[in-house]
Amino acid sequence: MKRVLCILTLCLMTCYVFSQQLIRVGDDGKSWNLFTRSTVYQLKVENNEVRMGYYGNKTLIEQTGRPLGAEIPVRGGYVNATPILEVIFPDGVRDVELAYQSYEIVNVDGFQTLKITQCDKHYPLEVISFISIIPEYDLIEKWVEIRNTGKKGNIKIENLLSGSIFLPKDAYELTHYAGVWGYEFTPQTTKLTPGLKTIQVKDFKSYGLSSFYIRPEGETDNYSGKVWFGSIKYSGNWRIDFDKSFNGPVQIAGGLNFWDQELNLKPGSSFTTPRMVFGYTELGVEGVTHCLTSYIREKLLPSSHREKIRPVLYNSWYATTFNVNEEHQLALAKVAKEIGVEMFVIDDGWFKGRVNDRAGLGDWTVDTNKFPNGLQPMIEKINALGLDFGIWIEPEMVNPNSDLYRAHPDWVFHFPNRQRHEGRNQLILNLAREDVVQYLYQSFHKLLKENNIKFIKWDMNKQMTDPGFPSAPTDEQRAVRIKYMENLYRLVETLRKEFPDVWFENCSSGGGRIDMAMNARYDFNWASDNTDPIDRIFIQDSYLTLFPANTMISWVTHEDWHRQNHPLEFKFNVCMAGVLGVGYDITKWTEAEKDVAKERITKYKEIRKTVQTGTPYRLVTPYESNRSIVQFVNKEQSESIVFVYNMAEYPNNVFTENRRSALVQLRGLMPDARYAFEGVNGIYSGDYLMKTGIEIPLRGAYKSRIFKIVKQ
Ligand code: DGJ
Repeated sequence: MKRVLCILTLCLMTCYVFSQQLIRVGDDGKSWNLFTRSTVYQLKVENNEVRMGYYGNKTLIEQTGRPLGAEIPVRGGYVNATPILEVIFPDGVRDVELAYQSYEIVNVDGFQTLKITQCDKHYPLEVISFISIIPEYDLIEKWVEIRNTGKKGNIKIENLLSGSIFLPKDAYELTHYAGVWGYEFTPQTTKLTPGLKTIQVKDFKSYGLSSFYIRPEGETDNYSGKVWFGSIKYSGNWRIDFDKSFNGPVQIAGGLNFWDQELNLKPGSSFTTPRMVFGYTELGVEGVTHCLTSYIREKLLPSSHREKIRPVLYNSWYATTFNVNEEHQLALAKVAKEIGVEMFVIDDGWFKGRVNDRAGLGDWTVDTNKFPNGLQPMIEKINALGLDFGIWIEPEMVNPNSDLYRAHPDWVFHFPNRQRHEGRNQLILNLAREDVVQYLYQSFHKLLKENNIKFIKWDMNKQMTDPGFPSAPTDEQRAVRIKYMENLYRLVETLRKEFPDVWFENCSSGGGRIDMAMNARYDFNWASDNTDPIDRIFIQDSYLTLFPANTMISWVTHEDWHRQNHPLEFKFNVCMAGVLGVGYDITKWTEAEKDVAKERITKYKEIRKTVQTGTPYRLVTPYESNRSIVQFVNKEQSESIVFVYNMAEYPNNVFTENRRSALVQLRGLMPDARYAFEGVNGIYSGDYLMKTGIEIPLRGAYKSRIFKIVKQ
């Protein structure tokens, strides 16, 4: 019965998806218009080649001119675009000449998808390009499958990106996000002048992001104006090229970074790239935020937990570092329960030999010196308090000082005659090896099977170095990083399938590996190791531009990077704009501190549904002001939460900021409805709050407040 129901639901979904005609095929059968809610992506076959026309506002569909460039720009013929496909055929020929073969409209993951097949005119190479339409979020996803259809001889792939688009001729500015440890995702805006601008990752670690947006030069309104944007669904090495020609349009090409990589495609085999997401909106940067964050929250996050309200967490890292034991963890858990925490997570330090960061990684059994009874008896006590239990792991790494490394020194990436480069005293396991993947699978399967664990914090603290796999076949040696990523995804997916109740957090020394592919497999991201509330306001502003609040874990800790000694309440208010966590040694808290925590956590539980599932609006960005204001509005538009953080207060009239009106215009309310604004007398129409705005009743540096706006 259940099976029949499932099949029926699937059929209904497919019928629904296909009942909306999102792909219109021209009468010639060789031109296509792909529609989202407000955009069109145009393609046509010209001279037997598939070319891209206009991508943008769908009302302009009739006015669009000549195609802007090849759908799959290749190395071969005139060099008039950045190639996304570069191969070498067995006889040494390096040019590709593609000819259109056929198209199909297929359903991929529930989305209407145009699948176009092209083949090389001479060599046995088939290139299938996919464009999926995600209509309600004005997004498309592109990827490419490439196939060696020959009987003998490898085709060497030197470069294969996920896709390319061309923007109409104009002057543009690019905004992308760069950073370093502790200062993640700082927005960088630059003019695109003729030439090539590349953003990329070469060592698996990026404190920046593959998410970007492009606006015509001079457009600065946050809520309106044309914006093209994108992001790569990939967590390994990625690359995006922004190629501006002197006379022509701008090309954006992105995907897997083939720097020091190549694939040898054997006869009969194929390779599929990761996906690249592209979008277009005329609602300014706010439009980008809404398209990307809604898509991630409503469609991309792991389905088992997508709809669930995120718990309040405690994490022991800042309280204990490696110095963990049952007694202290239980003492922490007791206070955690008292203040309202729901999930207690033990961080690093619990496994064999892990006295500091110089030993233990790889040996995933409990340290019996610290936990003589094992983990489960402690977990039971924590559960008895009414808390769920979570645990930290770092599967991809090994310390040379570990049983695992002593037994298998060849399980790490390395080159003969070359140094093994350690970072934080650790090396990176070669996940391209199946025996390594199986070892990790067995270790964590056992850990999760034998202990009542409901939350995994999956860390990754070293960048990729020495990507050698000496015993692999020569023609696979430079594909190891691609294989690694495939296996990493498989490992986490398998564990999730077997333990569907467990939450997974993605961490990489803070926000060193955050992207949409991780968001498809992990419920949360740890945005930064920097928990100083002021720095965090900046990091969170960028994060919330591109990722939903219910994926952003934020802990209240004693960290104070600028010696400001911020009030506890201020710290809580910062962390409450995402998934709230606590990281202090709370056994040392005074009653007064516990009272602040209790009161704030109670408040968080009251507002978290709107924060975690509502639509975000960045009303004032800290990058342009002495304060930061973030608003969330629930689906019904009946409740809104406004976070206000004052970071400095200056005398009147000394800065542009305080020459401006102090009125703040809200967003996302119903114009005709009437709302009460907490802390402000009177009832106001949504229209008034959004057009005239309200003076926020909060003065003074390092003051913060959370306001609730409720429909009457
Ligand atoms: C780096 C993470 O970012 C921290 O939160 C913490 O888990 C440490 N690793 C533990 O070693």
